[in-house]
Amino acid sequence: MQISIIGTGYVGLTTGVCLAELGHKVLCVDNDEEKIKKLVSGIIPIYEPGLDKLIKKNAKRIKFSSQIKDAVKYGEVIFIAVGTPSNPDGSPDLSYIENVAREIAKWLDEYKVIVEKSTVPVETAQWIKKTIDKYKKNNVEFDVVSNPEFLREGTAVNDFLHPDRIVLGVESKRAEKIMLKVYQKIKSPKIVVDTKSAELIKHASNSFLATKISFINAVANICELTGADIEKVALGMGLDKRIGKEFLKAGIGYGGSCFPKDVDAFIWIAEKVGYNFGILKEVKKVNQHQIELFIKKVEDTLWILKDKTIGILGLSFKPNTDDIRESPAIKVITVLKQKGAKIKAYDPKAVEKMKQIFPDIEYCRSVYDTAKNCDCLLILTEWDEFKKMDLKRIKQLMVHPTIIDGRNIFEPQKITKLGFIYKSIGR
Ligand code: UGA
Repeated sequence: MQISIIGTGYVGLTTGVCLAELGHKVLCVDNDEEKIKKLVSGIIPIYEPGLDKLIKKNAKRIKFSSQIKDAVKYGEVIFIAVGTPSNPDGSPDLSYIENVAREIAKWLDEYKVIVEKSTVPVETAQWIKKTIDKYKKNNVEFDVVSNPEFLREGTAVNDFLHPDRIVLGVESKRAEKIMLKVYQKIKSPKIVVDTKSAELIKHASNSFLATKISFINAVANICELTGADIEKVALGMGLDKRIGKEFLKAGIGYGGSCFPKDVDAFIWIAEKVGYNFGILKEVKKVNQHQIELFIKKVEDTLWILKDKTIGILGLSFKPNTDDIRESPAIKVITVLKQKGAKIKAYDPKAVEKMKQIFPDIEYCRSVYDTAKNCDCLLILTEWDEFKKMDLKRIKQLMVHPTIIDGRNIFEPQKITKLGFIYKSIGR
């Protein structure tokens, strides 16, 4: 099939490249001409494991353009994967989606399936349909489909090619048939529903996962107050198949471009239709509180932060990505800087991006470089590299061997035996 993707962010680019891997011919479109130039010359603007290899492998089937006109002409299916950032009130800004819909309408001259891939509020597919109907130049037929993505950054390629399920929200048999053909080669269960249910599946799924994380973080706080161990509690809970062990990892809280934004959006959507989504408001509160508690732990350990040297290990919002959007590191560094601490920071992939936010802190080349002369090390992302670091060497390098671990990557007993002061979450 010939397929177009509008938007070459994490979702759009991964979708395009993986659809090419399935054998389709793909045109990826983005209005950022610089980005398109880079992609044409083989430079991938994001770090996502496996993506570069797949782009090279399928190069013959992937083309790039900066014109939506080309996308409309090229694809029998046109995916919209543009950003939906948050407005200050938590509502999603759908202006990029509307612009794309209007632009598609301008060039539409034969039947196409237009697929919303971006995470959007319930009823957006209907709005896209109304918008295209309003601005199209002729009587041409088209369908709008909701096909939410469930990719996680860092494992996006695998998530796309081996998903737990594929959700297809359709309003016609014609569109259903075409969408099933797009995903024919993927053997996972395919759920065909109406567009509104598909849109809700996405927001409900992300919000539920965020709820799991905040729930376990709240339990972690009770563990700390009672002397229980959250890792053991989570293990015991997770083995119950009805609960499941995924997303029960206590820590400094969830970040990224999805959960914080989607929780806000779902609270806002509920309010708009007259429902007070109290549980989700609490989920958000617990998440914000986790960072405050973490900073308090640093102060309780170091007392005065002014002129202390603090090493930050981990800047991305989670491992295996260079993405720092809503990363806990941003909030932690901001507060520590305000309190006068001297910050050294290291991350295997995210240093360049963090330099744009904090140009004035010291960036290091390795964990050892970071540990040198530090009063305390903070672990904010659970990169494998940190789990494997030589703790004896770290101890010798530090002014005082103190580690505060926001991701529970070490065994408290083992690390304290080595002579560290070690604090973690919920144990
Ligand atoms: C999330 C969803 O997992 C994807 O299914 C979805 O497609 C995506 O959002 C999206 O809407 O685009 P992502 O944000 O890439 O994916 O990352 P996750 O692996 O879900 O992690 C999100 C945050 O939760 C991270 O900050 C992570 O550290 C935190 N987390 C995750 C925990 O604190 N504990 C856990 O047990 C799991």
